[in-house]
Amino acid sequence: MSRQLAELETPVPVVDLDRLARNLDRAAAYATAHSLALRPHIKTHKSPRIASEQLRRGAVGLTCATPFEAEVMSEVADDILVAYPPVGSVRAARLAALPDTIKLTVALDSGRAIDDLARAAREADRPVGVYVELDMGMHRVGTPNVEEAIALARAVCERRPLEFEGIAFYPGHVREPVGDQGAKLEALDAALGNAIGRFEQAGLRPAVVSGGSTPTLWNTHELSGVTEFRPGTYVYNDRTTAAIGACDWDDCAFTVLATVVSTAVPGQAVIDAGCKALGREPMRGADAAEGFGCVLGHPEVVVKTMSEEHGILDLSSSSWRPAVGEMVRVIPNHVCIVVHLNDAIVGVRGETVETSWPVAARGRGYAL
Ligand SMILES: Cc1ncc(COP(=O)(O)O)c(C=O)c1O
Repeated sequence: MSRQLAELETPVPVVDLDRLARNLDRAAAYATAHSLALRPHIKTHKSPRIASEQLRRGAVGLTCATPFEAEVMSEVADDILVAYPPVGSVRAARLAALPDTIKLTVALDSGRAIDDLARAAREADRPVGVYVELDMGMHRVGTPNVEEAIALARAVCERRPLEFEGIAFYPGHVREPVGDQGAKLEALDAALGNAIGRFEQAGLRPAVVSGGSTPTLWNTHELSGVTEFRPGTYVYNDRTTAAIGACDWDDCAFTVLATVVSTAVPGQAVIDAGCKALGREPMRGADAAEGFGCVLGHPEVVVKTMSEEHGILDLSSSSWRPAVGEMVRVIPNHVCIVVHLNDAIVGVRGETVETSWPVAARGRGYAL
């Protein structure tokens, strides 16, 4: 007989397979409807199995951040973008050592990264595509200066076997509720149009303009120059994504199943999921709410504080009173961090446990 959710040992990360499939389908349909290339970021799931589902639905390739992610994903993909500066000879060599059947592209924003990547690519005798990264407002990586970006693209063209393929940016500064993103998206559209125009005038038309995130997912088509988008979180979604309306609460596929272990202190319930199960990520976005996750079906109940193995549910804004021994499912603030805390994920359909899979690209995979 198949196992039921209630038979699992807690805390345990659980994915609703129907919701997952719906999330994958919806993004794939959006990409098709707007003639956008979907290159999902796998940092959220770190699983070749889910990556295969994304590719099967039409994703043009995958996006990774770390060499280990790229190595693990090379089992299922033949087109990989590493959207992270390839700085350091060890990192660059590891990327260049990916199977030569992989079409490899790397995003970068410095001369040093070009040097490291070009040397590694030459030694491995393989072509490597390059996106030059632009800062479009997040102020993390990417050159804020278009002329500097053009100079980097020229430097790439002079460094065979590197090949200039396009430009990339990450709109991580746009975290408002979906309906309030207009002003920032307009500014982004204008800045992008200007950058693309100046690259064209310099004779370096970017074949690919790669952007996109989960908060801006459904508005990507309003950025006129974008050809490719790289959402990651959308596969599972999380409390942050639902709170800003980039998904419905019913689209949150990932929860941490936990057991109420104490209600001794009035006004609260203690669950067996603390920060070692839920992470300690704050809510992000314009009007960041409190807590470290909320209860599926009772989004007003948040994990107010945590110890390592205790999570304190604040019941003050709810009439719901869970009993000791009752199971609850917590939607984390930022799902990517929570996935990375786990070796394996359980897949359920309704209340029935159907499958499980390893978080295969978890960790660094260093040979120490
Ligand atoms: C470079 C890059 N691209 C894409 C993504 C995916 O964005 P999201 O998590 O909003 O789906 C991220 C997320 O951190 C990123 O850093």
